[in-house]
Amino acid sequence: MENRTAIRQCDTRDAADFEAIWEIINDAAQAYKGVIPADRWHEPYMTKEKLEHEINDDVVFWGYEEEGTLTGVMGIQHVQDVTLIRHAYVRTGRQHCGIGGQLLIALKAQTTRPTLVGTWKAAVWAIRFYEKHGFRLVSPAQKDRLLTTYWSIPGRQVETSVVLADQTWFDAKGSGDSA
Ligand SMILES: CC(C)(COP(=O)(O)OP(=O)(O)OC[C@H]1O[C@@H](n2cnc3c(N)ncnc32)[C@H](O)[C@@H]1OP(=O)(O)O)[C@@H](O)C(=O)NCCC(=O)NCCS
Repeated sequence: MENRTAIRQCDTRDAADFEAIWEIINDAAQAYKGVIPADRWHEPYMTKEKLEHEINDDVVFWGYEEEGTLTGVMGIQHVQDVTLIRHAYVRTGRQHCGIGGQLLIALKAQTTRPTLVGTWKAAVWAIRFYEKHGFRLVSPAQKDRLLTTYWSIPGRQVETSVVLADQTWFDAKGSGDSA
């Protein structure tokens, strides 16, 4: 049988899509358990209230659908002069099949702005994933500045996170910005 796949925008007003996004995030986030600092881990990793908050904050979710079922999600958020890639998650049983890569390529194609992504310092697999797609780690000082400028996260999360930027961001930054 033909394998039908699609990348589509999620309809977060639709209860089924909302539930699927929430499930995928909390399933895939199991990868963080025992890896990220213990004081940052909680279950569910993302509450429904937090997901609603992110949607109300203009994070637009796109999904990878296989045979009518969402198997991966990734959010895109335009903040001030940059684009952020937010909440990239692929169902545990479907990771390493190229789904995250295809979603990232699809989201990157939607913006010409400098693009940033934040993740846990300890999530080395995620850092490698973004590096494979042309993102590079910014310096610790730049990371602190970017996380406080473009994200709304607690100080402890700033400490334990990294930021990667695409070439457009490094080009726009100019040689004068050494922060
Ligand atoms: C990080 C994440 C979103 C990446 O999505 P993914 O679908 O697993 O990513 P891809 O399959 O495109 O690429 C991941 C790896 O699989 C490899 N891969 C891609 N297609 C493949 C295929 N057909 N067969 C085997 N391996 C493949 C890639 O080369 C890459 O290798 P790497 O582990 O050496 O980097 C996903 O693994 C995930 O949800 N992880 C847990 C949560 C997380 O860390 N999220 C990041 C939040 S910022």
